[in-house]
Amino acid sequence: MDNKKKRPVILDGDPGHDDAIAWVLASTIDDFDIKAITTVAGNQTLEKVTYNARRIAALLHLDIEVAKGRNRPLCADLIIAPNFHGETGLDGPKLPEPHLPLSNLSAIEMMAKVLQESEEKVTIISTGAQTNVAALLLAHPELKEKIEMISTMGGGLRNGNWTSGAEFNILVDPEAAYTVYHSGVPLQMCGLDVTEQALVYPEEFERIRALHNPIAETVAGWFDFFFIHVKSLGWAGATTHDPCAVMSLVHPEIFDIRDYYVDIELSGRYCRGATIADYHGRLGKEPNCRCVVGLDRQKFVDYLVEACSKYEGWEV
Ligand code: BDR
Ligand code: CA
Repeated sequence: MDNKKKRPVILDGDPGHDDAIAWVLASTIDDFDIKAITTVAGNQTLEKVTYNARRIAALLHLDIEVAKGRNRPLCADLIIAPNFHGETGLDGPKLPEPHLPLSNLSAIEMMAKVLQESEEKVTIISTGAQTNVAALLLAHPELKEKIEMISTMGGGLRNGNWTSGAEFNILVDPEAAYTVYHSGVPLQMCGLDVTEQALVYPEEFERIRALHNPIAETVAGWFDFFFIHVKSLGWAGATTHDPCAVMSLVHPEIFDIRDYYVDIELSGRYCRGATIADYHGRLGKEPNCRCVVGLDRQKFVDYLVEACSKYEGWEV
């Protein structure tokens, strides 16, 4: 495909096993032109997730300098998730050391530069707390029109996972999510409604491992580690959250997507960080979000396996 016709994409996340798998998937999509990789504190501290991002870039031979983002939420104290992702934030398979220096630009400066320089509108794929994205929108409101869409993993219209009401990425920085949801920029939300249906079962880790290429083996190893904690919570498969934010852009036909007005609960004794959809239209507001609420699980897994198969003959 002609390079000019590709969709410019920024990957913003906190790798994190499922962020890493999302980035593997993104790097196989011919239609994507990955312009920047930016990191945000969440699953682990900013230092750790940035180091992980640089190692993932080396693994995937991505010639893109990683730009370090915000080390804490806009207003709140940082929450991290070592129970899911380990002390490094990406425990499990051994990874190569970074092949490129860290960018001199901050994540917000990098995002702004990509948007300013791009002739096409840019898609931001946010798979962590929305701190960087919110900071970008606050610092550069004039660049909103350069954003095609913000595709997020975050929230849950029916339930939370870190508290009963809130999903981790939104709970880490509810004020950032509020800023994003009220920005007027086209927004897609892959919340727990879909991501807890995006289960990959242990026998499917083996399907990936059996591809016998270094990326597939690494992805299978990431699933092995991530599933240890997820299984202890009673799940029969790995809740494959962040790849949904990528897959729903390229294979929307396998997803159930509905438009709702969604707002972020900022206070409350129990519900800070909840994503509330106005299902009944009582607020009389226009939808501000494409909410991804279901998927064809088997096709999701098949596409994931197919993506890993593209690394046949890869050298690390
Ligand atoms: C989200 O939280 C993180 O632990 C995962 O990487 C994912 O982005 C799921 O709630
Ligand atoms: Ca994440």
